Amino acid sequence: MQLCLYYPGLGYYSAGSQKLGPLGDFTTSPEISSLFSQTLARQLQDASKQLDSFDLLEFGAGSGKMAIDILLQLEEDNALPSHYYIIEASANLQARQLERISHAIPRLKNKISWLTSFPLHFTGIILANEVCDAMPFHRLHFENGKPSECYVEEGREGIQWTQHQLLNKELSNRSDTIHQINGGNDYYAEVNLTAEAWLTSLASCMKQGALFIIDYGHCRNTYYHPQRQQGTMMCYYQHQGHENPLILPGLQDITSHIDFTALAETALAAGLNVEGFQTQADFLLAGGITELLQTNEKSENTFNDFQQKTALKRLILPSEMGENFKVLTLTKRLPELLPRLQLADRRYSL
Ligand SMILES: C[S@@+](CC[C@H](N)C(=O)[O-])C[C@H]1O[C@@H](n2cnc3c(N)ncnc32)[C@H](O)[C@@H]1O
Repeated sequence: MQLCLYYPGLGYYSAGSQKLGPLGDFTTSPEISSLFSQTLARQLQDASKQLDSFDLLEFGAGSGKMAIDILLQLEEDNALPSHYYIIEASANLQARQLERISHAIPRLKNKISWLTSFPLHFTGIILANEVCDAMPFHRLHFENGKPSECYVEEGREGIQWTQHQLLNKELSNRSDTIHQINGGNDYYAEVNLTAEAWLTSLASCMKQGALFIIDYGHCRNTYYHPQRQQGTMMCYYQHQGHENPLILPGLQDITSHIDFTALAETALAAGLNVEGFQTQADFLLAGGITELLQTNEKSENTFNDFQQKTALKRLILPSEMGENFKVLTLTKRLPELLPRLQLADRRYSL
Protein backbone atom coordinates (compact mmCIF):
# COMPACT_ATOMS: atom_id res chain seq x y z
CA MET A 1 0.00 0.00 0.00
CA GLN A 2 2.89 2.34 0.83
CA LEU A 3 4.45 1.70 -2.58
CA CYS A 4 1.15 1.86 -4.47
CA LEU A 5 0.20 5.21 -2.96
CA TYR A 6 3.48 6.99 -2.29
CA TYR A 7 6.36 5.56 -4.38
CA PRO A 8 8.08 8.70 -5.78
CA GLY A 9 6.77 9.53 -9.24
CA LEU A 10 4.71 6.33 -9.57
CA GLY A 11 2.49 6.02 -6.48
CA TYR A 12 -1.13 7.07 -6.67
CA TYR A 13 -0.61 10.25 -4.61
CA SER A 14 2.91 10.93 -5.95
CA ALA A 15 2.13 10.73 -9.67
CA GLY A 16 0.36 13.42 -11.64
CA SER A 17 -3.23 12.12 -11.94
CA GLN A 18 -6.18 14.35 -11.02
CA LYS A 19 -7.33 12.30 -7.96
CA LEU A 20 -9.76 14.75 -6.32
CA GLY A 21 -13.02 16.12 -7.69
CA PRO A 22 -15.41 15.15 -10.49
CA LEU A 23 -12.58 14.47 -12.98
CA GLY A 24 -10.61 12.42 -10.46
CA ASP A 25 -11.40 9.31 -8.44
CA PHE A 26 -13.12 10.62 -5.30
CA THR A 27 -14.50 13.82 -3.83
CA THR A 28 -13.82 15.11 -0.33
CA SER A 29 -15.86 17.53 1.80
CA PRO A 30 -13.70 20.63 1.09
CA GLU A 31 -14.11 19.95 -2.64
CA ILE A 32 -17.89 19.65 -2.34
CA SER A 33 -18.39 23.11 -0.91
CA SER A 34 -16.51 26.00 0.71
CA LEU A 35 -19.17 25.80 3.44
CA PHE A 36 -17.26 22.87 4.96
CA SER A 37 -14.00 24.81 5.42
CA GLN A 38 -15.79 28.01 6.41
CA THR A 39 -17.54 26.12 9.21
CA LEU A 40 -14.31 24.43 10.26
CA ALA A 41 -12.72 27.90 10.43
CA ARG A 42 -15.47 28.96 12.84
CA GLN A 43 -15.01 25.84 14.96
CA LEU A 44 -11.26 26.21 15.24
CA GLN A 45 -11.61 29.80 16.46
CA ASP A 46 -13.14 28.49 19.70
CA ALA A 47 -9.70 27.01 20.36
CA SER A 48 -7.47 29.67 18.77
CA LYS A 49 -9.12 32.44 20.84
CA GLN A 50 -7.73 30.74 23.92
CA LEU A 51 -4.14 31.08 22.65
CA ASP A 52 -1.99 34.23 22.79
CA SER A 53 -0.89 33.62 19.22
CA PHE A 54 -1.38 30.59 17.03
CA ASP A 55 -0.24 28.77 13.90
CA LEU A 56 -2.30 26.43 11.74
CA LEU A 57 -0.93 23.12 10.50
CA GLU A 58 -2.79 21.14 7.84
CA PHE A 59 -1.82 17.58 6.98
CA GLY A 60 -2.42 16.24 3.47
CA ALA A 61 -3.86 19.39 1.91
CA GLY A 62 -5.03 17.71 -1.32
CA SER A 63 -5.81 20.34 -3.95
CA GLY A 64 -5.19 23.23 -1.49
CA LYS A 65 -8.86 24.24 -1.52
CA MET A 66 -9.42 23.81 2.20
CA ALA A 67 -6.40 26.00 3.02
CA ILE A 68 -7.71 28.76 0.74
CA ASP A 69 -11.27 28.68 2.12
CA ILE A 70 -10.12 28.56 5.75
CA LEU A 71 -7.72 31.47 5.31
CA LEU A 72 -10.39 33.55 3.54
CA GLN A 73 -12.86 32.90 6.36
CA LEU A 74 -10.28 33.67 9.06
CA GLU A 75 -9.34 36.87 7.23
CA GLU A 76 -13.01 37.91 7.18
CA ASP A 77 -13.30 37.12 10.90
CA ASN A 78 -10.08 39.04 11.70
CA ALA A 79 -8.58 35.88 13.11
CA LEU A 80 -5.67 34.98 10.83
CA PRO A 81 -2.94 32.70 12.20
CA SER A 82 0.72 33.77 12.28
CA HIS A 83 1.56 30.93 9.85
CA TYR A 84 -0.37 28.33 7.88
CA TYR A 85 1.86 25.27 7.60
CA ILE A 86 1.18 22.30 5.34
CA ILE A 87 2.75 18.86 5.62
CA GLU A 88 2.06 16.93 2.42
CA ALA A 89 3.27 13.40 1.64
CA SER A 90 3.05 13.92 -2.12
CA ALA A 91 5.50 16.23 -3.90
CA ASN A 92 3.12 16.42 -6.85
CA LEU A 93 0.20 17.59 -4.71
CA GLN A 94 2.46 20.04 -2.90
CA ALA A 95 3.37 21.66 -6.23
CA ARG A 96 -0.31 21.87 -7.17
CA GLN A 97 -1.21 23.36 -3.78
CA LEU A 98 1.44 26.05 -4.20
CA GLU A 99 0.16 26.95 -7.65
CA ARG A 100 -3.50 27.07 -6.64
CA ILE A 101 -2.91 29.03 -3.43
CA SER A 102 -0.58 31.55 -5.14
CA HIS A 103 -3.24 32.17 -7.75
CA ALA A 104 -6.28 32.32 -5.42
CA ILE A 105 -4.94 34.32 -2.47
CA PRO A 106 -1.65 36.02 -3.47
CA ARG A 107 -1.96 38.51 -0.57
CA LEU A 108 -1.96 35.66 1.99
CA LYS A 109 0.67 33.53 0.27
CA ASN A 110 3.47 34.66 2.58
CA LYS A 111 1.59 33.12 5.53
CA ILE A 112 1.84 29.65 3.98
CA SER A 113 4.82 27.32 3.99
CA TRP A 114 5.37 23.59 3.51
CA LEU A 115 7.19 21.59 6.15
CA THR A 116 8.85 18.21 5.81
CA SER A 117 8.79 17.35 9.52
CA PHE A 118 6.57 18.12 12.50
CA PRO A 119 7.27 21.57 14.02
CA LEU A 120 8.59 21.34 17.59
CA HIS A 121 6.75 23.05 20.49
CA PHE A 122 3.77 23.72 18.23
CA THR A 123 1.15 26.12 19.57
CA GLY A 124 -1.96 26.24 17.45
CA ILE A 125 -4.50 24.20 15.56
CA ILE A 126 -3.85 21.04 13.54
CA LEU A 127 -6.21 19.77 10.85
CA ALA A 128 -6.31 16.39 9.10
CA ASN A 129 -9.25 15.84 6.77
CA GLU A 130 -9.28 12.38 5.15
CA VAL A 131 -5.58 11.87 5.85
CA CYS A 132 -5.51 8.95 8.31
CA ASP A 133 -7.56 6.78 5.94
CA ALA A 134 -4.81 7.20 3.32
CA MET A 135 -2.12 5.81 5.64
CA PRO A 136 -1.01 2.21 5.03
CA PHE A 137 -2.73 -0.31 7.32
CA HIS A 138 -2.32 -3.99 8.25
CA ARG A 139 -4.98 -6.42 7.04
CA LEU A 140 -5.80 -9.44 9.17
CA HIS A 141 -7.67 -12.56 8.12
CA PHE A 142 -9.35 -14.66 10.81
CA GLU A 143 -9.98 -18.30 9.84
CA ASN A 144 -11.73 -20.44 12.41
CA GLY A 145 -11.14 -17.47 14.67
CA LYS A 146 -7.34 -17.71 14.22
CA PRO A 147 -5.62 -14.56 12.87
CA SER A 148 -2.99 -14.27 10.17
CA GLU A 149 -1.68 -11.21 8.35
CA CYS A 150 -2.35 -10.61 4.64
CA TYR A 151 0.73 -9.81 2.54
CA VAL A 152 1.22 -9.22 -1.16
CA GLU A 153 3.76 -11.28 -3.13
CA GLU A 154 4.82 -11.58 -6.73
CA GLY A 155 3.40 -14.69 -8.38
CA ARG A 156 3.57 -16.07 -11.92
CA GLU A 157 0.58 -14.03 -13.02
CA GLY A 158 1.49 -10.82 -11.20
CA ILE A 159 0.97 -9.74 -7.61
CA GLN A 160 -1.20 -11.95 -5.41
CA TRP A 161 -2.30 -12.33 -1.80
CA THR A 162 -0.48 -14.52 0.68
CA GLN A 163 -0.90 -14.97 4.43
CA HIS A 164 1.54 -15.41 7.30
CA GLN A 165 1.32 -15.74 11.04
CA LEU A 166 1.34 -12.49 12.99
CA LEU A 167 4.88 -11.33 13.68
CA ASN A 168 4.10 -7.94 15.18
CA LYS A 169 3.31 -8.13 18.93
CA GLU A 170 1.00 -5.12 18.83
CA LEU A 171 -0.99 -6.75 16.03
CA SER A 172 -1.30 -9.95 18.09
CA ASN A 173 -2.71 -7.97 21.03
CA ARG A 174 -5.07 -6.16 18.72
CA SER A 175 -6.24 -9.38 17.10
CA ASP A 176 -7.39 -10.66 20.54
CA THR A 177 -9.54 -7.55 21.01
CA ILE A 178 -10.93 -7.80 17.49
CA HIS A 179 -11.85 -11.43 17.94
CA GLN A 180 -13.62 -10.71 21.23
CA ILE A 181 -15.78 -8.14 19.43
CA ASN A 182 -16.37 -9.96 16.17
CA GLY A 183 -16.41 -13.53 17.40
CA GLY A 184 -16.91 -14.91 13.88
CA ASN A 185 -15.05 -17.75 12.17
CA ASP A 186 -14.01 -16.24 8.86
CA TYR A 187 -13.54 -12.51 8.47
CA TYR A 188 -11.12 -9.72 7.53
CA ALA A 189 -10.20 -6.68 9.63
CA GLU A 190 -7.84 -3.73 9.28
CA VAL A 191 -5.55 -2.22 11.92
CA ASN A 192 -3.99 1.18 11.18
CA LEU A 193 -0.83 1.32 13.30
CA THR A 194 0.61 4.03 11.00
CA ALA A 195 -2.09 6.51 12.00
CA GLU A 196 -1.52 5.71 15.67
CA ALA A 197 2.26 6.25 15.36
CA TRP A 198 1.61 9.50 13.48
CA LEU A 199 -0.64 10.73 16.28
CA THR A 200 1.84 9.80 19.01
CA SER A 201 4.64 11.75 17.29
CA LEU A 202 2.36 14.69 16.65
CA ALA A 203 1.23 14.84 20.29
CA SER A 204 4.85 14.98 21.45
CA CYS A 205 5.41 18.08 19.26
CA MET A 206 2.29 19.89 20.49
CA LYS A 207 2.83 22.43 23.24
CA GLN A 208 -0.70 23.81 23.34
CA GLY A 209 -3.71 23.76 21.07
CA ALA A 210 -6.22 21.53 19.34
CA LEU A 211 -6.22 18.83 16.69
CA PHE A 212 -9.25 18.04 14.51
CA ILE A 213 -9.19 14.61 12.83
CA ILE A 214 -12.00 14.26 10.30
CA ASP A 215 -12.50 11.00 8.47
CA TYR A 216 -14.86 8.13 7.72
CA GLY A 217 -14.84 5.58 10.48
CA HIS A 218 -16.45 4.19 13.59
CA CYS A 219 -15.87 3.49 17.25
CA ARG A 220 -14.21 0.09 17.79
CA ASN A 221 -17.31 -1.98 18.53
CA THR A 222 -18.96 -0.85 15.31
CA TYR A 223 -15.73 -1.08 13.32
CA TYR A 224 -15.14 -4.76 14.10
CA HIS A 225 -18.83 -5.68 14.20
CA PRO A 226 -19.66 -9.09 12.63
CA GLN A 227 -21.65 -7.18 9.99
CA ARG A 228 -18.30 -6.15 8.43
CA GLN A 229 -16.93 -9.61 7.59
CA GLN A 230 -14.90 -8.24 4.68
CA GLY A 231 -13.34 -5.41 6.70
CA THR A 232 -13.44 -1.82 5.47
CA MET A 233 -10.71 -1.78 2.79
CA MET A 234 -11.83 0.02 -0.38
CA CYS A 235 -10.27 1.15 -3.65
CA TYR A 236 -11.43 4.05 -5.82
CA TYR A 237 -10.85 4.55 -9.51
CA GLN A 238 -12.83 7.16 -11.47
CA HIS A 239 -15.51 7.26 -8.76
CA GLN A 240 -16.03 3.49 -8.83
CA GLY A 241 -15.54 1.84 -5.45
CA HIS A 242 -14.35 -1.79 -5.30
CA GLU A 243 -12.35 -4.13 -3.06
CA ASN A 244 -9.38 -5.27 -5.18
CA PRO A 245 -6.13 -3.40 -4.40
CA LEU A 246 -4.09 -5.76 -6.61
CA ILE A 247 -5.27 -4.18 -9.86
CA LEU A 248 -4.33 -0.73 -11.21
CA PRO A 249 -1.33 -0.29 -8.88
CA GLY A 250 -0.47 3.40 -8.64
CA LEU A 251 -3.60 4.37 -10.56
CA GLN A 252 -6.26 3.86 -7.91
CA ASP A 253 -6.71 5.02 -4.34
CA ILE A 254 -6.58 2.43 -1.54
CA THR A 255 -8.13 3.25 1.81
CA SER A 256 -9.82 1.89 4.91
CA HIS A 257 -12.14 3.31 7.56
CA ILE A 258 -10.70 4.65 10.82
CA ASP A 259 -11.04 2.96 14.20
CA PHE A 260 -11.61 6.12 16.24
CA THR A 261 -11.36 4.26 19.55
CA ALA A 262 -7.76 3.34 18.67
CA LEU A 263 -6.97 7.00 17.90
CA ALA A 264 -8.66 8.20 21.12
CA GLU A 265 -6.70 5.66 23.20
CA THR A 266 -3.47 6.69 21.46
CA ALA A 267 -4.25 10.36 22.16
CA LEU A 268 -4.85 9.74 25.87
CA ALA A 269 -1.64 7.71 26.17
CA ALA A 270 0.24 10.57 24.48
CA GLY A 271 -1.05 13.19 26.92
CA LEU A 272 -3.86 14.74 24.84
CA ASN A 273 -7.44 15.32 26.00
CA VAL A 274 -10.20 13.71 23.99
CA GLU A 275 -12.39 16.79 23.82
CA GLY A 276 -15.13 15.68 21.43
CA PHE A 277 -16.33 12.96 19.08
CA GLN A 278 -19.17 13.95 16.77
CA THR A 279 -20.64 12.95 13.47
CA GLN A 280 -19.67 15.33 10.67
CA ALA A 281 -23.32 16.48 10.54
CA ASP A 282 -23.41 17.44 14.24
CA PHE A 283 -19.97 19.07 14.05
CA LEU A 284 -21.00 21.23 11.08
CA LEU A 285 -24.42 22.11 12.49
CA ALA A 286 -22.83 23.12 15.81
CA GLY A 287 -20.31 25.20 13.84
CA GLY A 288 -23.16 27.13 12.21
CA ILE A 289 -23.13 25.76 8.67
CA THR A 290 -26.79 26.66 8.10
CA GLU A 291 -26.20 30.28 9.19
CA LEU A 292 -23.21 30.46 6.84
CA LEU A 293 -25.41 29.18 4.03
CA GLN A 294 -27.91 31.96 4.69
CA THR A 295 -25.13 34.57 4.67
CA ASN A 296 -23.82 33.25 1.37
CA GLU A 297 -27.36 33.22 -0.08
CA LYS A 298 -27.38 37.00 -0.07
CA SER A 299 -25.64 36.64 -3.43
CA GLU A 300 -29.13 36.61 -5.10
CA ASN A 301 -27.88 34.06 -7.59
CA THR A 302 -30.57 31.36 -7.61
CA PHE A 303 -28.48 28.70 -9.30
CA ASN A 304 -25.62 29.27 -6.87
CA ASP A 305 -28.09 29.01 -3.95
CA PHE A 306 -29.41 25.73 -5.31
CA GLN A 307 -25.87 24.34 -5.65
CA GLN A 308 -25.03 25.38 -2.09
CA LYS A 309 -28.14 23.68 -0.69
CA THR A 310 -27.34 20.50 -2.60
CA ALA A 311 -23.79 20.58 -1.26
CA LEU A 312 -25.06 21.14 2.29
CA LYS A 313 -27.22 18.03 1.97
CA ARG A 314 -24.23 15.97 0.83
CA LEU A 315 -22.20 17.13 3.81
CA ILE A 316 -24.79 16.56 6.52
CA LEU A 317 -27.42 14.01 5.46
CA PRO A 318 -26.98 10.64 7.24
CA SER A 319 -27.31 8.80 3.92
CA GLU A 320 -24.47 10.92 2.45
CA MET A 321 -21.42 12.06 4.48
CA GLY A 322 -23.18 13.22 7.65
CA GLU A 323 -23.05 9.99 9.70
CA ASN A 324 -20.23 7.94 8.22
CA PHE A 325 -17.74 10.78 8.69
CA LYS A 326 -16.76 11.68 12.24
CA VAL A 327 -14.74 14.45 13.89
CA LEU A 328 -12.40 13.55 16.72
CA THR A 329 -11.20 16.68 18.54
CA LEU A 330 -8.09 16.40 20.71
CA THR A 331 -6.65 19.22 22.80
CA LYS A 332 -3.63 20.00 24.90
CA ARG A 333 -3.46 22.58 27.71
CA LEU A 334 -6.48 24.62 26.58
CA PRO A 335 -7.83 26.58 29.57
CA GLU A 336 -11.50 26.17 28.60
CA LEU A 337 -13.78 23.57 27.01
CA LEU A 338 -14.79 24.01 23.38
CA PRO A 339 -18.54 24.76 23.69
CA ARG A 340 -19.70 23.63 20.24
CA LEU A 341 -18.32 20.15 20.78
CA GLN A 342 -21.00 19.52 23.38
CA LEU A 343 -23.71 19.12 20.70
CA ALA A 344 -24.49 15.41 20.33
CA ASP A 345 -21.08 14.45 21.73
CA ARG A 346 -20.52 10.71 21.22
CA ARG A 347 -17.41 10.12 23.30
CA TYR A 348 -19.44 7.58 25.29
CA SER A 349 -19.35 5.29 22.25
CA LEU A 350 -15.57 5.20 21.94
C1 LIG B 1 -7.71 11.58 0.53
S1 LIG B 1 -6.57 12.88 0.31
C2 LIG B 1 -7.36 14.18 1.21
C3 LIG B 1 -6.95 15.53 0.74
C4 LIG B 1 -7.56 16.74 1.48
N1 LIG B 1 -7.27 16.72 2.89
C5 LIG B 1 -9.03 16.84 1.25
O1 LIG B 1 -9.80 16.61 2.19
O2 LIG B 1 -9.43 17.14 0.12
C6 LIG B 1 -5.24 12.38 1.37
C7 LIG B 1 -4.13 13.39 1.46
O3 LIG B 1 -3.27 13.06 2.56
C8 LIG B 1 -1.92 13.06 2.13
N2 LIG B 1 -1.18 12.24 3.09
C9 LIG B 1 -1.28 10.91 3.33
N3 LIG B 1 -0.48 10.53 4.34
C10 LIG B 1 0.12 11.65 4.79
C11 LIG B 1 1.07 11.93 5.83
N4 LIG B 1 1.53 10.97 6.60
N5 LIG B 1 1.47 13.19 5.99
C12 LIG B 1 1.00 14.19 5.21
N6 LIG B 1 0.12 13.99 4.21
C13 LIG B 1 -0.32 12.74 4.01
C14 LIG B 1 -2.03 12.62 0.69
O4 LIG B 1 -0.88 12.90 -0.07
C15 LIG B 1 -3.24 13.46 0.25
O5 LIG B 1 -2.92 14.80 0.01
